[in-house]
Amino acid sequence: MPPCPFLALSDRLRLTGRKQPLPLHQSAEAFLRLLQTERGAPTPTPLRFRQVAQSIRQTGTYSLTPAELNYGCRLAWRNSVRCVGRFFWSKLDVIDARHLHTEEEIYQACLDHLTHATRHGDIRSTITIFPPADSRGHGPRIWNYQLSRYAGYRLGKKQILGDPAEADFTDLCLRLGWKPPKKRTAFDLLPLVISLHDKKPRLFPPPKKATLEVPIRHPDSSCLDSLRLRWFALPVVSNMKLEIGGLSFPAAPFSGWYMETEIGARNFADENRYHLLPEIARRLRLDTSRPTTLWKDRALVELNRAVLHSFAQAKVRMIDHHSATASHLRFEEDEAQAGRPVFGRWDWLIPPLSGSLTKLWPRSYNPTEFSPNFLTQKRLY
Ligand code: ARG
Repeated sequence: MPPCPFLALSDRLRLTGRKQPLPLHQSAEAFLRLLQTERGAPTPTPLRFRQVAQSIRQTGTYSLTPAELNYGCRLAWRNSVRCVGRFFWSKLDVIDARHLHTEEEIYQACLDHLTHATRHGDIRSTITIFPPADSRGHGPRIWNYQLSRYAGYRLGKKQILGDPAEADFTDLCLRLGWKPPKKRTAFDLLPLVISLHDKKPRLFPPPKKATLEVPIRHPDSSCLDSLRLRWFALPVVSNMKLEIGGLSFPAAPFSGWYMETEIGARNFADENRYHLLPEIARRLRLDTSRPTTLWKDRALVELNRAVLHSFAQAKVRMIDHHSATASHLRFEEDEAQAGRPVFGRWDWLIPPLSGSLTKLWPRSYNPTEFSPNFLTQKRLY
């Protein structure tokens, strides 16, 4: 019996467990064939297949048409096994910035991404794509994990002011000559660090004007006010590489909107991040003398309520973990309708708060990754 064409195709698109990347012409062909199987995607003609093959033969590479890039980005999102927000995969603003070449232009496009995607709180899922890597895998890089993040200043051996997750990156910025604000706080935006090909990284001012921030307050008490907590509205992941049809885009910042637990249950609560639960519990006058009072759990819920309440007050789009997981279930149903399997990482899809209250809890997921996708890449500092 001849092999099932879908299986053959999905096998060529599989990234997990592949020792060597496929030759470019094979990845390119697999991507074009994938487009042909998708409703709503551009349909590559036989001529397009020949053009791509010829371009690879003659120049060693090829470029995606705007329509291919557009749909490829949506597929990369849909294939992201860690993302609980994939119900919205087909609604994505794709900003084609492949023609930008200088560090200044890339910096400006990052600021434009922030403004466009934030829309004063009416957040739109957005990706900006900078030029692809060359055959040696070199291309532009944004060194920041996200376009907006807070510095973590080392005070002593162990103590850090700000976000401990950014301590190494903050060190790098200081080495590169960054002058932080005179009065340092726990919420100072970091500068952007951008490099071209193999060139030295360059430092650009923190995206202050383009970053919308939300002051965090508790809905029914002023007990958090004097902590002056805040968080930015838009998470723009900028250190992953986008892979489509064998081409890789090492700088392709993308953003959606926050789920409250990302901030309330992780950024603020993790012991190696802002580690706020003991202070919140004190302010809520909880009995912290022993674990059995569940003071951590209670403080965690109040902190997440504060995050949801504050974003709502500021009219910044955010999703709660009940709605987000419910939407993922709808995504799974839509995909089943379309005859496609859904892959996922259970440990990422389950929210870090009340996991067993969500419909995803009893399900199991196969974590295999397919192309197009977003991949981690080597840290440069
Ligand atoms: N978890 C990361 C953070 O807390 C953001 C990752 C992307 N999140 C998103 N909702 N698109 O900043």
